[in-house]
Amino acid sequence: MEDLVVEFRTFHNADPPEILKLWHASNLGPSAAEGFPCDIFELFVFSQPFFDRNGFFVAHEGDRIVGFVHAAFSCTKDGTALNITDGVISALVVHPEFRRQGVGTQLVVLAEHYLADKGAASVEVGAGLDRNGFYNGIYGGHQASGFANEIAPWTEFLTPLKFRPGSSTRILHRDLTMGRDPVSARLIRHRRRMNLVITDRVADMPWWWHVRFGQLDALKFELQERQGKSVAASGQIIGLDVYVPKWGVRAVGMKDVWVPEEVRRHGYGLSLVLEICRRLREQSIQVIEAQIDADNAAAYELFTDAKFEQVQELVTFRREL
Ligand SMILES: CC(C)(COP(=O)(O)OP(=O)(O)OC[C@H]1O[C@@H](n2cnc3c(N)ncnc32)[C@H](O)[C@@H]1OP(=O)(O)O)[C@@H](O)C(=O)NCCC(=O)NCCS
Repeated sequence: MEDLVVEFRTFHNADPPEILKLWHASNLGPSAAEGFPCDIFELFVFSQPFFDRNGFFVAHEGDRIVGFVHAAFSCTKDGTALNITDGVISALVVHPEFRRQGVGTQLVVLAEHYLADKGAASVEVGAGLDRNGFYNGIYGGHQASGFANEIAPWTEFLTPLKFRPGSSTRILHRDLTMGRDPVSARLIRHRRRMNLVITDRVADMPWWWHVRFGQLDALKFELQERQGKSVAASGQIIGLDVYVPKWGVRAVGMKDVWVPEEVRRHGYGLSLVLEICRRLREQSIQVIEAQIDADNAAAYELFTDAKFEQVQELVTFRREL
Protein backbone atom coordinates (compact mmCIF):
# COMPACT_ATOMS: atom_id res chain seq x y z
CA MET A 1 0.00 0.00 0.00
CA GLU A 2 1.20 3.47 -0.85
CA ASP A 3 2.47 5.51 2.17
CA LEU A 4 0.12 8.35 3.04
CA VAL A 5 1.46 11.76 4.05
CA VAL A 6 -0.21 14.53 6.00
CA GLU A 7 -1.37 17.34 3.72
CA PHE A 8 -3.09 20.66 4.41
CA ARG A 9 -6.02 22.40 2.75
CA THR A 10 -8.92 24.73 3.54
CA PHE A 11 -12.37 23.55 4.69
CA HIS A 12 -14.71 21.61 2.37
CA ASN A 13 -18.47 21.34 2.95
CA ALA A 14 -18.16 17.55 3.36
CA ASP A 15 -15.65 17.85 6.26
CA PRO A 16 -17.91 18.19 9.37
CA PRO A 17 -18.44 14.41 10.00
CA GLU A 18 -14.65 13.83 9.95
CA ILE A 19 -14.09 16.89 12.18
CA LEU A 20 -16.68 15.52 14.60
CA LYS A 21 -14.77 12.20 14.74
CA LEU A 22 -11.49 14.04 15.36
CA TRP A 23 -13.07 16.16 18.14
CA HIS A 24 -14.25 13.00 19.92
CA ALA A 25 -10.93 11.19 19.54
CA SER A 26 -8.74 14.04 20.81
CA ASN A 27 -9.13 13.93 24.63
CA LEU A 28 -10.06 17.60 24.86
CA GLY A 29 -10.87 17.36 28.58
CA PRO A 30 -13.87 18.36 30.72
CA SER A 31 -14.25 21.75 28.97
CA ALA A 32 -15.24 20.10 25.70
CA ALA A 33 -18.80 18.90 25.18
CA GLU A 34 -18.96 15.41 23.65
CA GLY A 35 -21.58 12.96 22.45
CA PHE A 36 -23.28 15.49 20.19
CA PRO A 37 -24.18 15.06 16.50
CA CYS A 38 -22.83 16.93 13.50
CA ASP A 39 -25.75 19.41 13.46
CA ILE A 40 -24.29 20.99 16.57
CA PHE A 41 -21.08 21.86 14.75
CA GLU A 42 -23.15 23.22 11.88
CA LEU A 43 -25.19 25.37 14.26
CA PHE A 44 -22.37 26.69 16.44
CA VAL A 45 -19.60 26.96 13.85
CA PHE A 46 -20.07 26.36 10.13
CA SER A 47 -23.43 28.05 9.63
CA GLN A 48 -22.40 31.26 11.39
CA PRO A 49 -22.77 34.08 8.84
CA PHE A 50 -19.17 35.22 9.44
CA PHE A 51 -17.63 31.73 9.12
CA ASP A 52 -14.92 31.93 6.42
CA ARG A 53 -13.86 28.57 4.98
CA ASN A 54 -10.55 30.17 3.89
CA GLY A 55 -9.62 30.63 7.57
CA PHE A 56 -10.38 27.02 8.54
CA PHE A 57 -7.51 24.65 7.68
CA VAL A 58 -7.53 20.88 7.99
CA ALA A 59 -4.59 18.48 8.13
CA HIS A 60 -5.55 15.25 6.40
CA GLU A 61 -4.03 11.89 5.61
CA GLY A 62 -5.97 10.68 2.58
CA ASP A 63 -9.65 11.02 3.53
CA ARG A 64 -8.98 11.13 7.24
CA ILE A 65 -8.85 14.52 8.96
CA VAL A 66 -6.13 14.46 11.63
CA GLY A 67 -6.04 18.10 12.70
CA PHE A 68 -7.66 21.48 12.20
CA VAL A 69 -7.18 25.12 13.05
CA HIS A 70 -9.86 27.79 12.94
CA ALA A 71 -8.61 31.36 12.37
CA ALA A 72 -11.15 34.15 12.87
CA PHE A 73 -11.58 37.65 14.28
CA SER A 74 -12.84 39.21 17.45
CA CYS A 75 -15.31 42.10 17.42
CA THR A 76 -15.35 45.88 17.66
CA LYS A 77 -15.77 47.53 21.11
CA ASP A 78 -19.50 48.13 20.58
CA GLY A 79 -20.06 44.50 19.51
CA THR A 80 -21.64 45.44 16.18
CA ALA A 81 -19.06 44.02 13.71
CA LEU A 82 -15.89 41.95 13.37
CA ASN A 83 -12.59 43.74 14.01
CA ILE A 84 -10.29 42.43 11.29
CA THR A 85 -7.18 43.90 12.92
CA ASP A 86 -7.80 41.58 15.90
CA GLY A 87 -7.08 38.00 14.80
CA VAL A 88 -7.86 34.98 16.95
CA ILE A 89 -7.37 31.23 16.75
CA SER A 90 -10.78 29.96 17.82
CA ALA A 91 -9.85 26.28 17.90
CA LEU A 92 -6.82 24.07 17.27
CA VAL A 93 -6.79 20.29 17.52
CA VAL A 94 -4.35 17.57 16.41
CA HIS A 95 -5.28 13.88 16.71
CA PRO A 96 -3.24 12.22 19.53
CA GLU A 97 -1.63 9.75 17.05
CA PHE A 98 -0.35 12.65 14.94
CA ARG A 99 1.11 14.86 17.69
CA ARG A 100 4.81 15.79 17.87
CA GLN A 101 5.13 15.57 14.08
CA GLY A 102 4.93 19.30 13.33
CA VAL A 103 1.23 19.20 12.35
CA GLY A 104 0.12 21.73 15.00
CA THR A 105 2.97 24.09 14.05
CA GLN A 106 2.05 23.97 10.36
CA LEU A 107 -1.62 24.68 11.20
CA VAL A 108 -0.69 27.72 13.30
CA VAL A 109 1.53 29.06 10.48
CA LEU A 110 -1.33 28.69 7.96
CA ALA A 111 -3.72 30.47 10.35
CA GLU A 112 -1.23 33.32 10.86
CA HIS A 113 -0.77 33.82 7.10
CA TYR A 114 -4.53 33.96 6.57
CA LEU A 115 -4.98 36.48 9.40
CA ALA A 116 -2.08 38.67 8.27
CA ASP A 117 -3.40 38.70 4.66
CA LYS A 118 -6.82 39.82 5.93
CA GLY A 119 -5.25 42.73 7.88
CA ALA A 120 -4.84 41.39 11.43
CA ALA A 121 -2.19 43.18 13.51
CA SER A 122 -2.11 40.46 16.18
CA VAL A 123 -3.31 36.95 16.84
CA GLU A 124 -4.57 35.52 20.12
CA VAL A 125 -4.60 31.72 20.33
CA GLY A 126 -7.71 30.80 22.36
CA ALA A 127 -9.36 34.21 21.71
CA GLY A 128 -10.15 35.25 25.33
CA LEU A 129 -13.22 36.11 27.42
CA ASP A 130 -16.05 37.49 25.24
CA ARG A 131 -13.77 37.37 22.17
CA ASN A 132 -14.52 34.03 20.49
CA GLY A 133 -17.27 33.99 17.87
CA PHE A 134 -17.35 30.17 17.64
CA TYR A 135 -17.63 27.04 19.86
CA ASN A 136 -19.57 28.94 22.58
CA GLY A 137 -21.65 26.40 24.49
CA ILE A 138 -19.59 23.45 23.20
CA TYR A 139 -16.07 24.28 24.40
CA GLY A 140 -15.02 26.00 27.64
CA GLY A 141 -18.57 26.02 29.06
CA HIS A 142 -21.05 28.76 28.21
CA GLN A 143 -18.30 30.41 26.19
CA ALA A 144 -15.02 29.41 24.57
CA SER A 145 -12.81 31.98 26.26
CA GLY A 146 -9.47 30.17 25.99
CA PHE A 147 -7.87 26.73 25.80
CA ALA A 148 -7.76 24.44 28.84
CA ASN A 149 -4.38 24.84 30.48
CA GLU A 150 -4.15 21.31 31.91
CA ILE A 151 -5.15 19.50 28.72
CA ALA A 152 -2.41 20.42 26.25
CA PRO A 153 1.21 21.64 26.47
CA TRP A 154 0.29 25.15 25.28
CA THR A 155 3.37 26.91 26.72
CA GLU A 156 5.85 24.37 25.32
CA PHE A 157 4.10 24.39 21.95
CA LEU A 158 3.52 28.14 21.51
CA THR A 159 6.68 29.66 23.04
CA PRO A 160 8.94 28.48 20.16
CA LEU A 161 6.37 30.02 17.78
CA LYS A 162 7.02 33.41 19.47
CA PHE A 163 3.74 33.63 21.38
CA ARG A 164 3.66 35.02 24.92
CA PRO A 165 1.01 34.35 27.57
CA GLY A 166 -2.19 36.39 27.11
CA SER A 167 -5.26 36.32 29.32
CA SER A 168 -6.45 33.71 31.77
CA THR A 169 -10.08 32.92 32.63
CA ARG A 170 -11.13 31.05 35.74
CA ILE A 171 -13.95 28.53 35.29
CA LEU A 172 -15.98 28.26 38.47
CA HIS A 173 -18.67 25.70 39.24
CA ARG A 174 -21.24 25.41 41.96
CA ASP A 175 -22.95 22.07 42.52
CA LEU A 176 -26.41 23.09 43.69
CA THR A 177 -27.05 19.72 45.33
CA MET A 178 -24.10 20.20 47.72
CA GLY A 179 -23.74 22.61 50.65
CA ARG A 180 -26.13 25.24 51.89
CA ASP A 181 -26.46 28.81 50.70
CA PRO A 182 -24.72 31.33 52.96
CA VAL A 183 -27.02 33.42 55.17
CA SER A 184 -26.55 36.81 56.82
CA ALA A 185 -28.72 39.61 58.19
CA ARG A 186 -27.85 41.68 55.11
CA LEU A 187 -28.94 38.97 52.66
CA ILE A 188 -32.22 38.54 54.55
CA ARG A 189 -32.82 42.32 54.43
CA HIS A 190 -32.22 42.33 50.66
CA ARG A 191 -34.69 39.48 50.16
CA ARG A 192 -37.36 41.44 51.98
CA ARG A 193 -36.74 44.63 50.03
CA MET A 194 -35.98 43.32 46.55
CA ASN A 195 -37.76 41.44 43.78
CA LEU A 196 -36.05 39.14 41.29
CA VAL A 197 -37.37 39.99 37.82
CA ILE A 198 -36.78 37.31 35.17
CA THR A 199 -37.20 38.00 31.44
CA ASP A 200 -36.22 36.36 28.19
CA ARG A 201 -35.76 39.87 26.79
CA VAL A 202 -32.33 39.82 25.17
CA ALA A 203 -33.20 41.94 22.15
CA ASP A 204 -31.23 44.87 23.57
CA MET A 205 -27.94 42.94 23.31
CA PRO A 206 -25.55 43.72 20.42
CA TRP A 207 -24.93 41.59 17.32
CA TRP A 208 -21.88 39.90 18.93
CA TRP A 209 -24.06 38.57 21.77
CA HIS A 210 -26.66 37.17 19.36
CA VAL A 211 -24.17 35.36 17.11
CA ARG A 212 -22.52 33.72 20.12
CA PHE A 213 -25.50 32.89 22.34
CA GLY A 214 -28.57 33.23 20.09
CA GLN A 215 -28.76 29.46 19.55
CA LEU A 216 -28.74 28.73 23.32
CA ASP A 217 -31.51 29.29 25.89
CA ALA A 218 -30.94 32.56 27.70
CA LEU A 219 -32.66 34.48 30.50
CA LYS A 220 -32.00 37.86 32.03
CA PHE A 221 -32.27 38.47 35.81
CA GLU A 222 -32.63 41.79 37.61
CA LEU A 223 -32.71 42.47 41.32
CA GLN A 224 -35.12 45.40 41.67
CA GLU A 225 -36.14 47.52 44.65
CA ARG A 226 -39.80 46.72 45.42
CA GLN A 227 -40.37 50.44 45.82
CA GLY A 228 -38.91 52.67 43.13
CA LYS A 229 -38.01 49.69 40.88
CA SER A 230 -34.34 50.73 40.63
CA VAL A 231 -32.04 47.91 39.51
CA ALA A 232 -29.42 46.95 42.12
CA ALA A 233 -27.89 44.03 40.18
CA SER A 234 -28.35 42.20 36.89
CA GLY A 235 -27.09 39.04 35.21
CA GLN A 236 -27.86 36.40 32.57
CA ILE A 237 -27.95 32.65 32.37
CA ILE A 238 -27.16 30.58 29.29
CA GLY A 239 -28.28 26.95 28.91
CA LEU A 240 -25.53 24.31 28.65
CA ASP A 241 -27.67 21.61 27.04
CA VAL A 242 -24.91 20.31 24.77
CA TYR A 243 -22.91 19.29 27.87
CA VAL A 244 -25.59 16.91 29.20
CA PRO A 245 -24.08 13.74 27.63
CA LYS A 246 -20.58 14.64 28.87
CA TRP A 247 -21.32 15.89 32.40
CA GLY A 248 -24.45 13.79 32.98
CA VAL A 249 -26.22 16.72 34.72
CA ARG A 250 -28.30 19.72 33.73
CA ALA A 251 -26.13 22.82 33.84
CA VAL A 252 -26.31 26.53 33.03
CA GLY A 253 -23.69 29.25 32.69
CA MET A 254 -24.05 32.57 34.51
CA LYS A 255 -22.67 35.68 32.83
CA ASP A 256 -22.48 39.46 32.96
CA VAL A 257 -23.27 39.77 36.66
CA TRP A 258 -23.22 43.53 37.13
CA VAL A 259 -23.90 45.99 39.93
CA PRO A 260 -24.13 49.77 39.25
CA GLU A 261 -21.00 51.61 40.53
CA GLU A 262 -22.90 53.67 43.11
CA VAL A 263 -24.38 50.65 44.92
CA ARG A 264 -21.34 48.36 44.99
CA ARG A 265 -20.14 46.73 48.25
CA HIS A 266 -23.70 46.44 49.57
CA GLY A 267 -24.07 42.71 48.90
CA TYR A 268 -26.45 43.10 45.93
CA GLY A 269 -24.24 41.04 43.61
CA LEU A 270 -24.14 38.16 46.10
CA SER A 271 -27.91 38.44 46.68
CA LEU A 272 -28.53 38.20 42.93
CA VAL A 273 -26.23 35.18 42.44
CA LEU A 274 -27.78 33.34 45.41
CA GLU A 275 -31.30 34.15 44.28
CA ILE A 276 -30.50 32.78 40.79
CA CYS A 277 -29.03 29.63 42.41
CA ARG A 278 -32.22 29.18 44.43
CA ARG A 279 -34.46 29.51 41.35
CA LEU A 280 -32.32 27.12 39.31
CA ARG A 281 -32.26 24.54 42.08
CA GLU A 282 -36.08 24.59 41.97
CA GLN A 283 -35.81 23.82 38.23
CA SER A 284 -33.58 20.77 38.95
CA ILE A 285 -30.47 22.36 37.54
CA GLN A 286 -27.48 20.74 39.22
CA VAL A 287 -24.44 22.76 38.14
CA ILE A 288 -23.95 26.49 37.58
CA GLU A 289 -20.85 27.62 35.77
CA ALA A 290 -19.35 31.12 35.78
CA GLN A 291 -16.32 32.47 33.93
CA ILE A 292 -14.29 35.37 35.27
CA ASP A 293 -11.12 37.12 34.19
CA ALA A 294 -8.28 35.87 36.44
CA ASP A 295 -7.47 39.53 37.30
CA ASN A 296 -11.01 40.28 38.49
CA ALA A 297 -10.53 39.88 42.25
CA ALA A 298 -13.95 41.37 43.15
CA ALA A 299 -15.84 38.85 40.99
CA TYR A 300 -13.75 35.96 42.32
CA GLU A 301 -14.55 37.02 45.90
CA LEU A 302 -18.26 37.27 45.10
CA PHE A 303 -18.49 33.82 43.51
CA THR A 304 -16.39 32.24 46.26
CA ASP A 305 -18.79 33.75 48.84
CA ALA A 306 -21.61 32.13 46.83
CA LYS A 307 -19.81 28.74 47.21
CA PHE A 308 -18.47 28.45 43.66
CA GLU A 309 -15.15 26.64 43.23
CA GLN A 310 -12.55 26.88 40.49
CA VAL A 311 -12.54 23.74 38.30
CA GLN A 312 -10.36 24.83 35.40
CA GLU A 313 -8.39 27.65 33.84
CA LEU A 314 -8.65 28.68 30.18
CA VAL A 315 -5.62 30.49 28.80
CA THR A 316 -4.66 32.42 25.67
CA PHE A 317 -1.35 33.26 23.98
CA ARG A 318 -0.67 36.39 21.91
CA ARG A 319 1.66 37.46 19.15
CA GLU A 320 1.91 40.67 17.11
CA LEU A 321 1.99 39.93 13.36
C1 LIG B 1 -1.21 21.48 21.35
C2 LIG B 1 -1.26 20.63 20.05
C3 LIG B 1 -2.11 21.36 19.03
C4 LIG B 1 0.19 20.49 19.52
O1 LIG B 1 0.13 19.84 18.24
P1 LIG B 1 1.38 19.00 17.65
O2 LIG B 1 1.08 18.70 16.24
O3 LIG B 1 1.67 17.86 18.56
O4 LIG B 1 2.55 20.07 17.77
P2 LIG B 1 3.96 20.03 16.99
O5 LIG B 1 4.33 18.64 16.61
O6 LIG B 1 3.90 21.03 15.90
O7 LIG B 1 4.93 20.53 18.17
C5 LIG B 1 5.94 21.53 17.96
C6 LIG B 1 6.76 21.72 19.23
O8 LIG B 1 5.92 22.08 20.34
C7 LIG B 1 6.48 21.50 21.55
N1 LIG B 1 5.55 20.47 22.06
C8 LIG B 1 4.43 20.00 21.46
N2 LIG B 1 3.84 19.07 22.25
C9 LIG B 1 4.62 18.95 23.36
C10 LIG B 1 4.53 18.17 24.53
N3 LIG B 1 3.51 17.26 24.72
N4 LIG B 1 5.48 18.30 25.49
C11 LIG B 1 6.48 19.19 25.33
N5 LIG B 1 6.62 19.97 24.22
C12 LIG B 1 5.68 19.87 23.25
C13 LIG B 1 7.77 20.84 21.14
O9 LIG B 1 8.78 21.83 21.22
C14 LIG B 1 7.47 20.47 19.68
O10 LIG B 1 8.67 20.28 18.92
P3 LIG B 1 9.43 18.85 18.96
O11 LIG B 1 8.37 17.79 18.78
O12 LIG B 1 10.38 18.95 17.82
O13 LIG B 1 10.09 18.77 20.30
C15 LIG B 1 -1.83 19.19 20.36
O14 LIG B 1 -1.17 18.69 21.53
C16 LIG B 1 -3.32 19.14 20.62
O15 LIG B 1 -4.11 19.08 19.66
N6 LIG B 1 -3.74 19.13 21.88
C17 LIG B 1 -5.20 19.20 22.22
C18 LIG B 1 -5.80 20.48 21.68
C19 LIG B 1 -6.92 21.05 22.51
O16 LIG B 1 -7.12 20.75 23.69
N7 LIG B 1 -7.67 21.93 21.89
C20 LIG B 1 -8.76 22.57 22.60
C21 LIG B 1 -9.25 23.79 21.91
S1 LIG B 1 -10.17 23.47 20.49
